Amino acid sequence: MTEGVDRRREEMLREMGISPLWRLRAAAAAPGVLEPVVDSGAPLAQILTAAEPQPIPIAASSRTAATVAAVDWPALKSCVAECTACGLHKTRNNTVFGVGDERADWLIVGEGPGADEDALGEPFVGQAGKLLDNMLAAIRIKRGANVYITNIVKCRPPGNRNPQPAEAGACSPYLKRQIELIQPRLIIALGKVAAVNLLGRDASIASLRGVVHDCRGIPLIVTYHPAYLLRTLPDKAKAWEDLCFAVTTMQSLQSAQSAAT
Ligand code: URA
Ligand code: SF4
Repeated sequence: MTEGVDRRREEMLREMGISPLWRLRAAAAAPGVLEPVVDSGAPLAQILTAAEPQPIPIAASSRTAATVAAVDWPALKSCVAECTACGLHKTRNNTVFGVGDERADWLIVGEGPGADEDALGEPFVGQAGKLLDNMLAAIRIKRGANVYITNIVKCRPPGNRNPQPAEAGACSPYLKRQIELIQPRLIIALGKVAAVNLLGRDASIASLRGVVHDCRGIPLIVTYHPAYLLRTLPDKAKAWEDLCFAVTTMQSLQSAQSAAT
């Protein structure tokens, strides 16, 4: 491992506010940790051959889907604020639309609002959100600047249960439209619910990590959900590898784009 890479790793660890546990485990895993799974020099087309293009599973209500498919940001926000398309509207205090740069390169997709998010109407503002902010800071990303953060469902599932497939399906036109409007370069799916819904197939996070998938033509990387990482510290090192992989993938995408223009 080169000195430069070592230094970058040290900086990342510091910024992530990572405990010594992470530092030790990351060091133990050192030989592979910063190796991108896909060579960053590989052409984009080659990177994407690893992917299996799958549509976002689509909406229960085709009327909602058709309306939402053409709206602009203000109309999309109103649609979500007034939405009663699934049962989650009955128990929500606030819808949680999403936050950030509406033309961001990075799109982060979580599962659904928790209690804190439901109270404030903003995604990832509780404990998991603090970890997410640290994870993003580690790769030099700050909430609001070149990143957009949202969830599969915009209303809180009661008791923090997983959203049911019908709820995720009912909510999917909103996320689909957000993706179309943002046109991110790279999507990061946080956790299994986000991954399964965005990729349209059931698989474990372990089997989906380390590969650039395709979500309607947009590269997508899967990592662990920060709430899971708070409960399962050893997997933080893997999440850190995923972030490194995301950075090298973004660099490849940016150089592929500048070579094309
Ligand atoms: N967990 C999520 O998946 N999303 C949030 O917004 C907060 C916690
Ligand atoms: Fe509508 Fe989505 Fe909320 Fe369900 S979760 S009520 S589909 S905004």
